Amino acid sequence: MQLKYKHSIMIVDDETSILKAFSRLFRKDNYQILTASNAPEGLDLLKKAERPVSLIISDQRMPGMSGSQFLAEAQKLFPDTIRFLLTGYSDMDAVIDAINKGGIHRYLTKPWNDDDLMLQVRQSLHQYELVLENRRLLALTHKQNKELNQLNKHLETKVQERSREIVEKNKQLTQMNKELESNLYNTVRAFVSLIEVQTPSLAGHGRRVSYLARDMAQLSDLSEKEVAHIEIAALLHDIGKLGFPPQIVEDKTNHRTPKEQALFQKHPEEGQNIVRFIKNLDHVGLLIRSHHERYDGNGYPDQLSEEMIPLGSRIIAVADAYDNIANLKINAKHYVDEYKKGLKITQDQLSEDELLQQAAIHHLKQFGFTRYDPDIVKVFLEYIKQKKIPSHTEKEVTMDMLKAGMILNRPLYTLKGRFLLPYNTVLTEEYVDK
Ligand SMILES: [Fe+2]
Repeated sequence: MQLKYKHSIMIVDDETSILKAFSRLFRKDNYQILTASNAPEGLDLLKKAERPVSLIISDQRMPGMSGSQFLAEAQKLFPDTIRFLLTGYSDMDAVIDAINKGGIHRYLTKPWNDDDLMLQVRQSLHQYELVLENRRLLALTHKQNKELNQLNKHLETKVQERSREIVEKNKQLTQMNKELESNLYNTVRAFVSLIEVQTPSLAGHGRRVSYLARDMAQLSDLSEKEVAHIEIAALLHDIGKLGFPPQIVEDKTNHRTPKEQALFQKHPEEGQNIVRFIKNLDHVGLLIRSHHERYDGNGYPDQLSEEMIPLGSRIIAVADAYDNIANLKINAKHYVDEYKKGLKITQDQLSEDELLQQAAIHHLKQFGFTRYDPDIVKVFLEYIKQKKIPSHTEKEVTMDMLKAGMILNRPLYTLKGRFLLPYNTVLTEEYVDK
């Protein structure tokens, strides 16, 4: 059994011959030897020792303090030190008492066997080393736990710091976004002012189309962002007309020379070009580009049809058409005549404004599926119903009142929204049965 450390052994006996015998024996194994001829001397040596003594062998019978008493005192000084009591056979009571009180680890009887003693000493020292090792590991664990705790605390502080930084960064980002948004609206406002100065009637048209398109977009359950894009695009939809000759911009008849018509048809693309380079307006530019596309694919500039046309552009097209007739009075006579055709109604019954409104509504109903998205026309009709703009010549009937020859004033949908018949269909017996 190999020991790891160099150990010191103390021998306490009042007989010099025994002290010498032990010293001789232990020196062979290279132990450091301390000797004392009585208990007080032994305690004195223990107190002065630079490091704990590994093992003490004490004689029981000594003048003054007995061996067992001395070992009990030594235990108080160095609890881990291994303690052997050396006795004669007649001292058994003292040995039993010392063992019971936990003061000693082993006892040796005189005379002892050298080899046996050396073996016992080595075994005990090995045990002592295990105790020390155990203590060292415990101390190490304790130290590492402490360091770990500190690291955890440090980590917690770091996490808190990072969280604070992230919250701060988020605040800054929100602020920056607000500024960007406000910059965007400032840019849009600047555009509108520009249109206002150049062509006041165009600016008023833009505003009205923007309100109407926004309300229709909201009725279509679009997101706040999409509604905002449509609102801005509607406001600026004719910005491409800036710089066009006044006879084209202010024209109320739609009678243009082929050259003028070609120029006029450039305005959606021009509009997109104007807003193209402004950050956050590129999507708006697309909506402007497509506001003259037709649902049947016969519009311009890209001849897109149906769902290919951006939804916002389809909404703006309807709002634009309504305002062109109802407020800008473009081609007013033609639309009013169309509206009155077949109706037993005279202008006297309606004010001019009402007549134009009805003519515009009639036009949108008439051209749902060809020029305009029928679903958007439906949203528009829902909108004017909510706004209580009456749609004249309309009468609500129940199923049993349906008769052949009646004309549909609105496209017909099932309750679930499935399209059945277009506007202006003349009901036949077969339709009524269905
Ligand atoms: Fe336009």
